[in-house]
Amino acid sequence: MGRDGESGVYNRCAALGTTMRPTWAEISLTNLQHNFATIRDYVAPNATVCAIVKANAYGHGAAPCAKALQKEGAKWFGVTSTEEGVLLRKAGITGHILLCSGFWRGEEEAVLEHNLTPVVWDWNHIELLENVAEKMDRAPESVAVHLKIDTGMSRLGIPIADLPQMIEILQSAHSVMLEGVMTHLASAEVSDAPDVDAQIMRFDDACVTITTAGLTPTYFHVANSAGICTRESALKNMVRPGIGLYGYFMPVMSIITGTPDHSRELPVMPVLAWKTRIMALRDVGARQPISYNGSYVTQAPARIAVLPVGYADGLNRHLSSRGRVIVRGDFANIVGTVTMDMTMIDVTGMPGVDVGDEVILIGESGKRKITAWDIAGHAQTVPYEVLCGISARVPRVYID
Ligand SMILES: Cc1ncc(COP(=O)(O)O)c(C=O)c1O
Repeated sequence: MGRDGESGVYNRCAALGTTMRPTWAEISLTNLQHNFATIRDYVAPNATVCAIVKANAYGHGAAPCAKALQKEGAKWFGVTSTEEGVLLRKAGITGHILLCSGFWRGEEEAVLEHNLTPVVWDWNHIELLENVAEKMDRAPESVAVHLKIDTGMSRLGIPIADLPQMIEILQSAHSVMLEGVMTHLASAEVSDAPDVDAQIMRFDDACVTITTAGLTPTYFHVANSAGICTRESALKNMVRPGIGLYGYFMPVMSIITGTPDHSRELPVMPVLAWKTRIMALRDVGARQPISYNGSYVTQAPARIAVLPVGYADGLNRHLSSRGRVIVRGDFANIVGTVTMDMTMIDVTGMPGVDVGDEVILIGESGKRKITAWDIAGHAQTVPYEVLCGISARVPRVYID
């Protein structure tokens, strides 16, 4: 292709069959529904699934995902903030919406107005909710909350030592009603981690203290995706899967054997595929530096394709000269530094490669497959960060 004069740009759009930057994420709502049903059936009939759709449904798009889950029968949704909860209400989600990270002072009116269920861990939360409930003339016991207990992760939750005082505050509350008790496990994916068993024991003891005091919460919940498949003791009557819904599991590890046990993962399918198209091709000679600072130098003459995707789209810079993509059913290596908006790949010797060809960053074609795990491996992170990191400028396309 020629240089990018005006006609060059025009030709490029025509070649790509598009008038917009062709980098997009395909979301299979069918796979999402399948994953939800798989988890729901696994924990049935004892537990209700609270589908975690925080962080824009781990990058998959909160509203369309929650709607698809609602269609599949989901009655509970977990988000991180009031803002995320309000967005779901405005999108037509009628089920319960759990604010997993509570609410901020000043948001309590919105919490009640949109019928969101906050997680609480401080007497202050109860006071704020009581005050606004009085102002809004709410009925007794009409403001449901879930109490989070810090059983060992040292993130959110009331310390066990403060539980008696919190019980007294909840007992004397007028509008606030304790609907749930929860905790979060620090290493749920380690099947024989003694600290996880200790966390669950502390949680069980705390629940006994709460119910013995006369409070009657309906829901008790501990397990995230990994907790669901590692230990029955974490399966209370509600579970909170996130990553499993999107088709990934942290590998179940054993401290004793030191090896992953994939057999315990539930049969879920990736929901997201990430794609782009070749925007330019060039033939270069041997010893040609590619991208910023010439971090990659060709050993022999090579055919280099330019992709309209970079770290501003969420393509991790650690993939520079390490990661790979799929073109025409085969792997092609990323060469040189991933730049803000563009990335180069080596397509030398690949027959018929042309401008406009579809390129898979995450997904599969024929026998080739790239998962968020593969990217996470290069970027020294986890699939969560890879999926959440696909930026807002990448349009999400819902394919079913
Ligand atoms: C409180 C809480 N529950 C559930 C989840 C879902 O975890 P996972 O995505 O590992 O299933 C998270 C995620 O971080 C969380 O913070």
